[in-house]
Amino acid sequence: TTNGTIIHKPQLENGTKSAEEEEEPLFSPSLISAEIQSVLPEGYSARPLRRSDFHLGYLDVLRVLTTVGDISEAMWNERYNYLYKRNDEYYMIVICDGTGKIVGTGSLIVERKFIHTLGLVGHIEDIAVAQDQQGKKLGLRIIQTLDYVAEKVGCYKTILDCSEINEGFYIKCGFKRAGLEMAHYY
Ligand code: ACO
Repeated sequence: TTNGTIIHKPQLENGTKSAEEEEEPLFSPSLISAEIQSVLPEGYSARPLRRSDFHLGYLDVLRVLTTVGDISEAMWNERYNYLYKRNDEYYMIVICDGTGKIVGTGSLIVERKFIHTLGLVGHIEDIAVAQDQQGKKLGLRIIQTLDYVAEKVGCYKTILDCSEINEGFYIKCGFKRAGLEMAHYY
């Protein structure tokens, strides 16, 4: 400042993030396909997750999929910090409507293997479209967006688990049944 006072950045003391950090994308927007953007409904957009999406309905969209629980902003930030440090592994995307509200989301997790000469496998997880926005091809666009990321970062395949009722949706997205899902709950 003009009188030489040193201003400490408040986020270093109380964990609050600057506006810039709140709006920074989780991963490079260059991984979002322009072609897919162009076929979304008028005004809608696809983009990487941001820290500020806590306030734009991200968790509410996930509630159409399953139980989310009561997540405070501090809890959100803790998990977001983890993901952000691993943003060559966790690729979360959102679809927003014309008002900026989140209406759909999906995740791609990139697993690094020894087999297939250090092969990369994409895992598609947590696909959800807000109830009142279903049937507009947003689910399809989310999968296409994640497929594009997977291919661009070098995955040789992408796999997912789903219930029988969603099989038809994933077939329309170009997936085919392969193997059997098993689970061990703790
Ligand atoms: N069974 C058969 N076909 C379907 C289904 C279904 N359950 N859902 C959609 N389709 C078809 C559509 O009719 C459409 O076909 P068309 O091209 O011939 O018109 C095509 O699939 C694309 O459908 P979209 O409009 O893109 O689907 P939508 O936006 O409604 O999203 C989704 C589908 C994601 C399953 C949505 O209904 C949803 O959020 N459901 C609740 C949460 C959920 O079950 N998520 C998936 C969990 S599995 C996972 O996360 C790996």
